[in-house]
Amino acid sequence: MTVSVTDALAAAADAARLAPSIHNTQPWRWVVRGDRLELYAVADRQLREQDPDGRLMVLSCGAALHHALVGLAAEGWSGRVERPAGEPLAVVHAERHDPADPHAMRRMQLLRVRRTDRRVVSDEPVPADVRQALVDAARRGGARLHVLNRDQVLQLAVMIEHSGEAQQHDERMRAETATWVGGSRPEGTGLPDAVIPAELPLTTVAERDFGVSGSLTAGAGHDTAASYAVLYGDGDEPGNWLRAGEALSEVWLSATANGATVLPLSSPVELGFTRQALRRMLGETGYAYLVLRLGTADPDHAGPPHTPRLPAEQVIETVE
Ligand SMILES: Cc1cc2nc3c(=O)[nH]c(=O)nc-3n(C[C@H](O)[C@H](O)[C@H](O)COP(=O)(O)O)c2cc1C
Repeated sequence: MTVSVTDALAAAADAARLAPSIHNTQPWRWVVRGDRLELYAVADRQLREQDPDGRLMVLSCGAALHHALVGLAAEGWSGRVERPAGEPLAVVHAERHDPADPHAMRRMQLLRVRRTDRRVVSDEPVPADVRQALVDAARRGGARLHVLNRDQVLQLAVMIEHSGEAQQHDERMRAETATWVGGSRPEGTGLPDAVIPAELPLTTVAERDFGVSGSLTAGAGHDTAASYAVLYGDGDEPGNWLRAGEALSEVWLSATANGATVLPLSSPVELGFTRQALRRMLGETGYAYLVLRLGTADPDHAGPPHTPRLPAEQVIETVE
């Protein structure tokens, strides 16, 4: 069966629906235009209070772009990405058609099982070789990953306490979170109860408090076996945020392949003072895009369920 370029690009955009995004806002829109696939950010689903500059919106779009490329490869196509300054954020061109190789198909399967895990991490620390694999994955994806040492984890715990508190005291931010968690969010977006812990676990580095208790049994352990890492890079422009999202997706794919769990913690990058503190912690060698908690997946327990997604027709448009 020969699949047309247009169909392959539409299938790639469909694969991108699985990408992670801040509060599951899915702030992307794809336009399939002949042999081009265009990626746009959707300002209607931007978090105006928590993400006024659109960093996390564009980062989420970058994760979707990476998913689209993995989807394309799984169908036997290789994608070339054009990155215009401005709109669209990216244009994908499908270049040649080979029989899909098993490695490319496996990568797509990994993205299908990937999910955010807010349960307490298991007692098994993430092995050094897996941590290194994640550092390498970030670089492949176009950013860098710094795994924090013990002192830096304690500094992070303080930063997150400060950013979390500042957000709890900001009525508009609280209201914004409430619209994506429960609330009257568009169907197919936001966080269902089933992925939110019933009780916030007692950890050194706090998880995000969504202001509601869900139905996820998070476990009674601690986070002593967790690793924490900062995804960072050279610039603080939309092009860098897009790359950061691609890197996040590549890191998460590698984590899933290696039995590691990932929980993004974005509150410290949402506020200027903690974002600067993270930058100082990196020795001013780069700009912090996102904090990640890494753990070892517990093989005896299935992970939390998948969050819903917007239907394809709301995020993909085919133009003749
Ligand atoms: C940029 C970004 C920031 C995120 N920040 C947080 C966070 O602070 N706390 C959290 O629990 N989840 C966070 N998430 C995870 C999203 O809520 C999650 O990706 C989304 O709900 C979709 O669920 P899934 O990853 O299980 O597919 C973040 C994800 C992204 C891409």
